[in-house]
Amino acid sequence: MNTVTEAKSDVSAGSSQKVSLRDLREPVKKELDEFRVFFRSELKTNVFLLDQIIRYLMKMKGKELRPILVLYAAKLCGDINERTFRAATMIELLHTATLIHDDVVDDAEQRRGMFSINQVWKNKASVLLGDYLLAKGLLVSLDADEFQLLKIMSVAVKAMSEGELRQLKAAKLLNMTEEKYFEIIRDKTASLLAACCESGARSVTDDPETLRRMHDIGLNMGIAFQIRDDVFDYGPADVGKPIGNDIRERKITLPFIYTLGKLSVFERRKWKKKFRNKNKTAAEVDEIIDFVRESGGLDYATVQMEKYSHRALELLSEFPESPERTQMEVLSRYITTRKK
Ligand code: IPE
Ligand code: IPE
Ligand code: MG
Ligand code: MG
Repeated sequence: MNTVTEAKSDVSAGSSQKVSLRDLREPVKKELDEFRVFFRSELKTNVFLLDQIIRYLMKMKGKELRPILVLYAAKLCGDINERTFRAATMIELLHTATLIHDDVVDDAEQRRGMFSINQVWKNKASVLLGDYLLAKGLLVSLDADEFQLLKIMSVAVKAMSEGELRQLKAAKLLNMTEEKYFEIIRDKTASLLAACCESGARSVTDDPETLRRMHDIGLNMGIAFQIRDDVFDYGPADVGKPIGNDIRERKITLPFIYTLGKLSVFERRKWKKKFRNKNKTAAEVDEIIDFVRESGGLDYATVQMEKYSHRALELLSEFPESPERTQMEVLSRYITTRKK
């Protein structure tokens, strides 16, 4: 318990320097505009229904954190070029595809502050649209004979599917452990942020040591990123997607794992039973949220998140000091302090 309290004061010290999404976009503003042109051109289609859904999709504004990370990574290791844009476009396509599939799996009705695709067009069309975007993403590298990029991405997509499937199984059995949780979020989320850093670097350098280091930086940032996301589910802020959905869907994340770990056998059984209930009322979801909060589950998760963020910063410090390194550091801080 001591370590939690001690590290908590570090957390608040770190989070005093607020970073907005606008701050993050600023150093690559021009390049982001160029990326958006690439991205939109990949989404042109003559198929009527597809075009209709894609128009809706274009109105759903995401943070574009992954393209920003690709651009930053390339800048840190060299000069942004056409290959960098290809990597950024490919990653955002794959990311969008996995979000659409994820909302089907999680039965989520809201995404990016709007109705989710599955809410409007139902599951069947959502699965097919996700497949379409995935294929488009892979073609971005194939059409340019960029096999190294394709390999980096395929490894990440495979890990993401494995992570989502393992999570599904753990939710059914309710036998999640902290160790399993970290393996799952590494696969389902951090693998893609690792691919951002690695592919951004790969677009400007062949040096294996740099590529390995960049991959590890992305992995650590990605784990911190998902912990932050899992804390969002406990509210109260509106983050453009449903609050309490992990609890409704019986998805056990770090705050609840920690809380369970502190309980007596009897109490643990009682709270697991509440969690296992498939049709929780709003009041029952709130009861779990309050209990986890009071038990220090969110504080514990925050401390763990800071640990991974710190590890990313340590790895970054192996690069010589430069404005580009500072930008990556700022991005890392954004990940742990972001409001959505
Ligand atoms: C959401 O990612 C999926 C997770 C891995 C938690 P983002 O929060 O980056 O989603 P958008 O692209 O900004 O909507
Ligand atoms: C991340 O997990 C999903 C993906 C890796 C696609 P979540 O299920 O927590 O993501 P959100 O909260 O729905 O964005
Ligand atoms: Mg989800
Ligand atoms: Mg989530």
